[in-house]
Amino acid sequence: MSRVTKAVFPVAGLGTRFLPVTKASPKEMLPIVDKPLIQYAAEEAIAAGIDELIFVTGRNKRSIEDHFDKAYELEAELTADGKKDLLGMVQNVLPNKTSCVYIRQPEALGLGHAVLCAKQVVGNDPFAVILADDLISGEPGALRQMVDIYESCQCSVLGVQNVQREETRSYGIVKSKAGGPRISHVEAIVEKPVPEQAPSTLAVVGRYILTPRIFSLLENVTPGAGGEIQLTDGIAALLSHEKVLAYEFIGKRYDCGNKFGYLQATVEYALTHPELKEKFLTYLKNLKL
Ligand code: UTP
Repeated sequence: MSRVTKAVFPVAGLGTRFLPVTKASPKEMLPIVDKPLIQYAAEEAIAAGIDELIFVTGRNKRSIEDHFDKAYELEAELTADGKKDLLGMVQNVLPNKTSCVYIRQPEALGLGHAVLCAKQVVGNDPFAVILADDLISGEPGALRQMVDIYESCQCSVLGVQNVQREETRSYGIVKSKAGGPRISHVEAIVEKPVPEQAPSTLAVVGRYILTPRIFSLLENVTPGAGGEIQLTDGIAALLSHEKVLAYEFIGKRYDCGNKFGYLQATVEYALTHPELKEKFLTYLKNLKL
């Protein structure tokens, strides 16, 4: 029986919906209160038992590498000042046994292409894919829930959520047959269908567990919607070889790839932040618009 111990984080997109902030830094480094999106994603992976983090980066990769690296000067300064709490925060971004690998996607040719860039490092193992701009709150985390399903079914699992019908054109949408509580068997998947043609309103949102067979299938995918190599097309090809499940995870998802979703996450996370929640709630209540 195989276990999922590797997660791929595609972070090489251009982030055009967030320009100009994404001109020189990746959108995955945008903070929600005091932690960048990529750290929430890494923590979700670690809580799911993953110990190898594989980042597929693009031209603005440095800040992500630096974030997960040792910060000698900062640590020396905090040590000298006796700021133990802050030192712990900086040193414990990742547990010691976690390893990080960085791969470059030379051009932003699509999510499917970004995942394919991780082929050599993933090898012949099942692996998770996490899109850090889909922030999901909840305990246990969405990926932990999906890993549990993988461990009993040993097949690919897609994290899905019901969306409004008019939103289907922003997602990969699955057609599936009920298979158990929150679980269904995927029969078809289409990228960004117009609402009238969408086979359902179950949208794939930023969490995948995939078997390594996906790589050979992605190699044969031709550019689809938007001229990009779509992960959805690789998964569509996978369906004729293997069982694929869709799982409606428990948790609230924030689409932090767009400004409105990002602001919602910021407000809601601030309202649960131990240092800020009371002050921020008072501020919001007294805000005169
Ligand atoms: P998006 O569809 O959100 O695209 O990518 P984007 O470029 O990041 O943002 P917009 O639409 O221009 O505002 C979904 C995920 O896939 C990654 C992104 O970094 C994001 O996590 N991605 C996308 C890549 O790593 N490489 C690509 O070529 C495309």
